[in-house]
Amino acid sequence: MVDLWPGLVVALDLDSEEKIKSIVEQLTPKVKKFKIGPVAYTRFGPEAINWVCKKGADVFLDFKLYDIPNTMIETAKAFVDLGIWAFTVHLKAGRESISMLTDQVADYAKENNKRAPLAFGVTELTSKEASLEQILNLAKEGKEAGIQGIVCSVWEAKTIKEETGLLAITPGIRITSQQAGKGVSSDDQKRIASLADAVKAGSDYFVVGRPIVKSHNPFLAAENLVKSAL
Ligand code: C5P
Repeated sequence: MVDLWPGLVVALDLDSEEKIKSIVEQLTPKVKKFKIGPVAYTRFGPEAINWVCKKGADVFLDFKLYDIPNTMIETAKAFVDLGIWAFTVHLKAGRESISMLTDQVADYAKENNKRAPLAFGVTELTSKEASLEQILNLAKEGKEAGIQGIVCSVWEAKTIKEETGLLAITPGIRITSQQAGKGVSSDDQKRIASLADAVKAGSDYFVVGRPIVKSHNPFLAAENLVKSAL
């Protein structure tokens, strides 16, 4: 039986230090990756990263960089110093900028004897509609620019993986297939799927936020999610 826990990335989009710490504490026996984005980072800064790393888990830092090359590169050098596992960059920033970014991040990590974080390219947000062709073209450009993975909806993951061989990380996961069913969720996500669909599509990592962190028993919610796909 495939172990789905290593692929689960729990999004900590929360405004309370206590809640973040308690969720990380409850989940780390099984969950080894957490996503930190602007919601938590703006309130708590690098401390939030430490709360996760201290528990032996990895941080996926989701700032979706989209800026001039120098700004993206200097930001990503700070990511290297923070010891994160992976970060995100908008593929619309363009092949040339992203190439400079991936090259310089790798060089900086090597020079400083630190781990180089993986770069995941964002195609279109899963709260928006987008055509597969648009997404695939962006993914191919990203691959040429040296990124390691793509953030995409489950519905694009299979094609992207087949055509590019990049890692796929898929947000927009909802617990029941009724909720998923290639439809719109009751919140802001537009291209959602069940975990079973994500696994079928060959997705490498699954980002799940609210279905776990807003549950009154986050560990049970995560466990039920994993069981739902077995
Ligand atoms: O709460 P929920 O499960 O919808 O959280 C999904 C997470 O994945 C959020 O942190 C959101 O910012 C992120 N994300 C997304 N769609 C993308 C890229 C990232 O939903 N294309």
